[in-house]
Amino acid sequence: MSEITLFPQPQNIERKPGAFRINAHTRLFSADSAIAEMLADYLRPATGFGLPAHPLDDDIASAAQNAILLIRSAADEAPEGYSLTVEPGRAIIAAAHRQGFLHGIQTLRQLLPPQILSSEQVEGIDWTIPAVAISDSPAFGWRGIHLDVGRHMFPVEFIKKLLDALAFYKYNTFHWHLTEDQGWRIEIKKYPRLTEVGAYRAETIVSGTWDQYDGVPYGGFYTQDEVREVVAYASERGITVVPEIELPGHSVAALTAYPNLGCIGEGYEVRRTWGIAEDIFCAGKDEVFDFLKDVLAEVLELFPSEYIHIGGDEAPKPRWENCPACQARIQAENLADEHELQSWFIRQIETWLNERRRNLVGWDEILEGGLAPKATVMSWRGSDGGIAAANAGHDVVMTPNTYCYLDYYQSEDTDSEPWAIPAILPLRQVWQFEVIPEQIDADKRHHILGGQGNIWTEYMPNSDHVEYMMFPRAIAIADVLWNHPAERDYDALLARLGWHLPCLEAMGLNYRPLDD
Ligand code: ACM
Ligand code: ZN
Repeated sequence: MSEITLFPQPQNIERKPGAFRINAHTRLFSADSAIAEMLADYLRPATGFGLPAHPLDDDIASAAQNAILLIRSAADEAPEGYSLTVEPGRAIIAAAHRQGFLHGIQTLRQLLPPQILSSEQVEGIDWTIPAVAISDSPAFGWRGIHLDVGRHMFPVEFIKKLLDALAFYKYNTFHWHLTEDQGWRIEIKKYPRLTEVGAYRAETIVSGTWDQYDGVPYGGFYTQDEVREVVAYASERGITVVPEIELPGHSVAALTAYPNLGCIGEGYEVRRTWGIAEDIFCAGKDEVFDFLKDVLAEVLELFPSEYIHIGGDEAPKPRWENCPACQARIQAENLADEHELQSWFIRQIETWLNERRRNLVGWDEILEGGLAPKATVMSWRGSDGGIAAANAGHDVVMTPNTYCYLDYYQSEDTDSEPWAIPAILPLRQVWQFEVIPEQIDADKRHHILGGQGNIWTEYMPNSDHVEYMMFPRAIAIADVLWNHPAERDYDALLARLGWHLPCLEAMGLNYRPLDD
């Protein structure tokens, strides 16, 4: 029997003798016509088969041959669980929820020859699925990839390609980092200058010595129609888009558009360099909170996500220390210092979001000065913030830079790699990602919602480069988040990836070659 290579590896898989070969006469039977249509849409381009869909009834289900059946089953009741049974003559995907069917469909695609992923018809292939019994559900409910579109921006077509790849690896969350010092990337109707002014920078730094610029204006943004298109496309594939609107830091593009929102009130420029800016939203002026709530109101209209990411990272305090309005706020609210002022700032936003039945998620700096009551923490400066937050009873998403920062170099031999931020995260280390650190108390482990790979794009000017940084590392993260294997045999991972590379090729995804 031939090798079966699946990413992520299912929780339970048993190889059976024989195979099921789909052909021009194969029919689909489904409890849900939209799901059947989705499966047919995946299989039709490469095979050219019609794959007509029929409603499911019990007589047919027990007898149908040369068929793929999609059956609702209470037995697979885990929110994203499914089972897949392939016998000579037919395949059955059973699930209780839509998300489970979607995952079952992706597993079925991966069991077919990789040419199934081609968008054009491929002749001369035996479309054979090995007989298996799989029952499967994820270890973690938050399995995410983050993409920064502030430093560099990517067309909607690429975002969709990325979402297709995420669905293929059973990710369920796309964290879209939409605002930055170097560019504001989402249309906000009430504040047109955010994109008229804030979406463009004069030029971009191009040297590691921080003294050379390319002299080329850069910018762009996503219209609200485009955002809706992305959110709908993701939702069809079982992916939630979590938007990030950065506050109080990483906001120079917004300050350039509306200088009254900063402490000094003038002299801002959409940043041409990377790093951390001292200019951040003023915490003393009420108009800042009016602005942010207006912006977030439009964001909530566009994104149904339960979680709204508000950034919170890397907000230096010198402007607040020297701002009369910020100091007056500290006095009026009886706060000890600027860290408590940041905490107060975040709490204003959290209260507003909670009133609208959304949850706030922020980078681990939101712990400083006291965590907002219901906040979820995204632990990025290693795992410490996540450990502290979980032990204090807060939900956590683990994205430690030590395992999950996909903008770091993939090899110690940095000279042979494309230019990246000066840090190294080889695949071997990504594969060691422990989502639940042992310092988390046993009764607090359920606060770890899951994890995420992060892609910051300072050094990724185009989508080919994003793909190169993402793959194969994001595949390893998908595996860890789905089944959290106790044993992490790196050679075995490399062997599986070696078998799997034709799938990346067939999807037209760039990737870093595996080390020998
Ligand atoms: C971050 O990497 N600044 C969250
Ligand atoms: Zn201020």
